[in-house]
Amino acid sequence: TVQNVALPNGRTPQHVLGPPAPSAIFLVVTVHPGAEAEVKDFLGDVSGLVRTVGFRSREDHLSCVTGIGALLWDRMYSIPRPAQLHPFIEQRGDTHTAPSTPGDILFHIRARRIDLCFELARLIIGEIGSSVDVVDEVHGFRYFDERDILGFVDGTENPEDQEAIDSAYVGPEDPDCEGGSYVIVQKYTHEMKDWESLSVEDQEAAFGRHKLSDMEFDDDDKAANSHLILNTIEDEDGTEHKIVRDNMVFGSVESGEYGTYFIGYAGDPSVTEQMLENMFIGDPPGTYDRILDFSTAETGNLFYVPTQDFLEDPGEDEDAATDDDTGRAEVLAEDSTEPADQTAEEAARDTSDGSLGIGSLKRSRQ
Ligand code: HEM
Repeated sequence: TVQNVALPNGRTPQHVLGPPAPSAIFLVVTVHPGAEAEVKDFLGDVSGLVRTVGFRSREDHLSCVTGIGALLWDRMYSIPRPAQLHPFIEQRGDTHTAPSTPGDILFHIRARRIDLCFELARLIIGEIGSSVDVVDEVHGFRYFDERDILGFVDGTENPEDQEAIDSAYVGPEDPDCEGGSYVIVQKYTHEMKDWESLSVEDQEAAFGRHKLSDMEFDDDDKAANSHLILNTIEDEDGTEHKIVRDNMVFGSVESGEYGTYFIGYAGDPSVTEQMLENMFIGDPPGTYDRILDFSTAETGNLFYVPTQDFLEDPGEDEDAATDDDTGRAEVLAEDSTEPADQTAEEAARDTSDGSLGIGSLKRSRQ
């Protein structure tokens, strides 16, 4: 199910680890200068919109993950930026580049039906359309047998269960951000004619997996520039570091644009960044990912995905406005007090910032 479990610290993560969803809409928006306060209020209401739309067909598991970019964070919150939130790092290799493109907020909308995704996207833009520009909108779908448009099964090696939780969410090592996540997105388009002119053997060598059966090559048979070799990240003691991907296919026969929308969640975004460096620069440098000869990264963004509680109540009271770590720690400490105290506390805070206290009503229902 899409029910989220509260963390020991009482906070509830967003639905980063959604159930399998054949449809998705990726909306990336930039926020107009001066509209930060309005947008901040709205972010606390997104979960209400998800309930409004999703309840009409609960078995279709509508969910929405909201991510916030580094530049907007600094404009919108007085609380310091999460430790690893920064603008997307461009990767400029000798042959291929992963550009960093504008984007303040990501809405990653998933469901079993595209109409639910579309209705939610429509309502979101209906609410904040005059405060934002939609800089990218991709309607993604699952293709046959979970394959990407290049014809390979995509997602097989995603971590599952506890390993997925450990990979996707920030852990207790960063108490301020525990239960949050970092997400990197890139829109890729593919040179389909060139790709299809390769033999199946050459295509398989580019990934390091067999096309029909999805069987992984033996390690000795994987090419140094294969997608699998470059995306396997191990530290010195042999521990593998994983991310949680949920790529989708998109395309248009009219424009001839065929693509993969890459999305990777990680508790530690430097893992995804290392993968990107390996893919574009190469490991060793020069040995860049063979699939890039047929794929162009059109966009690139890094967002932080706060907990649901943070979206509904960032906890920016006078103490937090001091912008120091002590202020932040006090705010978090309040979060773990008795629920009754918490609600009273929040109600006071919500009214003082002029909002309707919707955050505290939602919280008191938990
Ligand atoms: C694996 C496709 C971009 C990270 C795979 C696999 C496919 C695939 C077919 C093999 C099956 C699987 O385990 O999922 C693509 C396509 C991309 C793309 C079509 C865009 C053009 C990326 C990017 C990253 C990435 C940008 C990281 C920043 C990974 C990882 C694996 C993987 C970590 C699993 C490696 C393993 O443990 O074996 N990808 N991918 N991919 N990809 Fe990608």
